[in-house]
Amino acid sequence: MSRFAEPQDPDFASINRSLDVDRRLWPYDVAQSRAHARMLAAQGIIEQADRDALLAGLDAVEGELRAGSFPFCEDDEDVHMAIERRLTEIAGPVGGKIHTARSRNDQVITDVALYVREAADELAGAVGELMAALADAAEEHLDWTLPGYTHLQRAQPVYLSHHLLAYLWMLDRDRERLRFAARQVALLPLGAGALAGVNFATDRRMVAAELGFEGVVPNSIDAVSNRDFILDLLSAAATCATHLSRLGAELVLWSSEEFGFVVLADAWTSGSSIMPQKKNPDAAELLRGKAPRVVAHLTALHGVLHALPLTYNKDLQEDKEHLFDAVDTLRLCLAASTGMIRGARFDRERMAAAASDELIAATDIADLLVRRGVPFRASHGIVAGLVREAVTSGRSLSELTADELRARSEHLDPETMASVLARSSWLESKVSEGGTALPRVREQLTLARERLRA
Ligand code: ARG
Repeated sequence: MSRFAEPQDPDFASINRSLDVDRRLWPYDVAQSRAHARMLAAQGIIEQADRDALLAGLDAVEGELRAGSFPFCEDDEDVHMAIERRLTEIAGPVGGKIHTARSRNDQVITDVALYVREAADELAGAVGELMAALADAAEEHLDWTLPGYTHLQRAQPVYLSHHLLAYLWMLDRDRERLRFAARQVALLPLGAGALAGVNFATDRRMVAAELGFEGVVPNSIDAVSNRDFILDLLSAAATCATHLSRLGAELVLWSSEEFGFVVLADAWTSGSSIMPQKKNPDAAELLRGKAPRVVAHLTALHGVLHALPLTYNKDLQEDKEHLFDAVDTLRLCLAASTGMIRGARFDRERMAAAASDELIAATDIADLLVRRGVPFRASHGIVAGLVREAVTSGRSLSELTADELRARSEHLDPETMASVLARSSWLESKVSEGGTALPRVREQLTLARERLRA
């Protein structure tokens, strides 16, 4: 019997149906149904025999889902209805008892909470693997020099290890954000019913314990309305994907012939269908291209939740596509990043040559004057004048004459210039904590390894 005299319009059925998106929630749906059936029997709400029939039916349903032989129907609106329908086909009318003291409103968000917990843990683990790859690469290229850039203009030389570790620290924060998201699903929503609680003396804590929750959501209205832990995961994912887009962008630049700093492994590049010489860094490009999609999922879910009155509204069904695609996308981006870093071959000569331009030591000359008592702002102007003189006359800084130097500052002469411009001193003079001098990078690497064990 149905309340409705007319069948659903096919287009209504289509817009209303979420099965194609939410079918992947089945493992969580089966797990929570098992816990729910056990609790119902323990509380005397259903008979022990009913529980046994439900559990046996759920085993059969799970077997079909696992084997891919589960018969989904056109009429199944979502995964919850599909599983209950099939359970009833297998177990008989007792299958209808599984939905006692439960609503799809608390059911769906319980599935999603279980999914989010798993996804956040998995992504945090994948971030850790990328961090390990970066730490290994930093260790292997500890004292390889390259220019550090600002405005994509050569700024000051740094060690490759230092540059790679910069990504490790971004990812360390990403991992913390993912762990935070995982902690936001510590409490069980199930048992809230449609919104107000249920008319049975259930034991929510028993269900919580079986499903690995620390307790139960204290307010049934909040339980069925809340989607903020999905926002937390999407936010962590969006930031992480954005970080990976910066790594991808650098790999694209660095693997170009213009830079030539790195050769990516064949396994992470593609050829061109027309130009036989090409080796394209597609995966690195896609790290750039995929990030906005993850950010868009976060923005879209903010839009869905914006101004939405309590409690459950069908709008909330739209949460899952954003969630799943963001997780799938980030998972792939992390795997690609780890693969590319592990397979990258850096070109020591090309990087060193790019970092050997004397102009890159301009700050060091300015600091030399500071040590001789010139205020930094004034020394900045003196060195800018020297750079201008060298550049306009087509010479390097060390080619400026003693007279030219003295005309700018009484503290300058060719010998001191030569000592500052001796290449290794540019890097090893960056002795401040967190700087690029080798002892500082070694210190940083030790810290990084400690974080990796955390
Ligand atoms: N497919 C629905 C969703 O994903 C399940 C909850 C449906 N609840 C309802 N009252 N129609 O949100």
